[in-house]
Amino acid sequence: MNTQDNDPREALVWAALKTVSFPGMTRDIVSFGFVREVAVFDEDGSATAAVKLKVNTHNPGVGDTLRAATEEALVALKDISRARVSVEVVAPVKPEAAQQKAIAADPSLLKGIKYVVAIASGKGGVGKSTVASNLAVRLAQMGHSVGLMDADIYGPSVPLMFGIEARPRVIDEKLLPFEKHGVRVMSLGFVLDVDTPVIWRGPMVMKAIEQLLGDVAWGELDFLLVDLPPGTGDAQLTLTQKVPLSGALIVSTPQDVALIDARKGLAMFRKVNVPVLGMVENMSGFACPKCGEVSYIFKQDGARHTAEVLDCRFLGGIPLDPAIVRGGDDGVPVVAADPDGAHALAFGKIAEAMIEEVAKEAKKRPSFQIL
Ligand SMILES: Nc1ncnc2c1ncn2[C@@H]1O[C@H](COP(=O)(O)OP(=O)(O)O)[C@@H](O)[C@H]1O
Ligand SMILES: [Mg+2]
Repeated sequence: MNTQDNDPREALVWAALKTVSFPGMTRDIVSFGFVREVAVFDEDGSATAAVKLKVNTHNPGVGDTLRAATEEALVALKDISRARVSVEVVAPVKPEAAQQKAIAADPSLLKGIKYVVAIASGKGGVGKSTVASNLAVRLAQMGHSVGLMDADIYGPSVPLMFGIEARPRVIDEKLLPFEKHGVRVMSLGFVLDVDTPVIWRGPMVMKAIEQLLGDVAWGELDFLLVDLPPGTGDAQLTLTQKVPLSGALIVSTPQDVALIDARKGLAMFRKVNVPVLGMVENMSGFACPKCGEVSYIFKQDGARHTAEVLDCRFLGGIPLDPAIVRGGDDGVPVVAADPDGAHALAFGKIAEAMIEEVAKEAKKRPSFQIL
């Protein structure tokens, strides 16, 4: 916890901690979220800094290296004469470790769908729907049959991104998905009344999502991508409990705050035994609209580093580009508007990496593949 209000010297300590990088990386321990407690107090007349670190790594040796480096950075401060640093090293939970536990999923809910992949983020506005939409279109362009389910109860944006305004038809008590840009699309936005209050309580959320899962005539699909609401709340939990998810893909921007949130999302999926297929970095660098050259406004490769530390695959990055915003607003995802362009190729690479991972996971746990 940041307790900078307690003692003005704590701000100096935080600043010093930001100069300590994780062994072998350029990122510092504060931005990784490894600093858990900071306190400054006078003890026997000496200004003492006490710092607690909790570090996710498979390498137990990192603890000692970090402790020494942190103590050195702290005592170098002229206001601090003593440093007490404790480091707790926690090995990241590997999906394999949790394999034995079965998910209480109902396989009949999504019969005929080969892989169900959740697109998640710890935070809103990082481009989760943009990534879900373009990835879905790309998978379709690659010849797969693809569905996209927009389960974001807080801000369903897939109808806008696909330029669909109509309401879905109901046949044999099933909602018919729309088919656009080669993708079968269903959204909570189609079935929600615009006046429905945003603050949905647990049971209502669960009901809506169950309906989206059970009452849509998806037909046979290779992939169903699910655009989840941001965060780790009821909607995500229902989904992870009800659907035999083949895996989850985490979208993050390179900034530290978003990455800390992505880390929480990742921890949630691992806790409920859903394999995390990897991380996608969105808005990584700015693509110049004139020459296409990418310049890095935020830290370069933040998600790549976090993926490394958290022991999951980095699936690829998508730069910030006004063409992507336009695509979203015009209802034609950039991959559909320009199937041979740089973005389409980048999404293609992400799609290929995702397919590899999902197949690997399915092999490990065959019950996850509903055929
Ligand atoms: N790579 C990108 N380049 C430029 N704008 C983007 C990019 N990704 C997303 N956006 C824009 O950012 C906004 C938020 O994206 P969205 O996909 O709706 O985020 P989320 O689903 O995570 O809330 C949208 O206006 C979208 O067009
Ligand atoms: Mg969204």
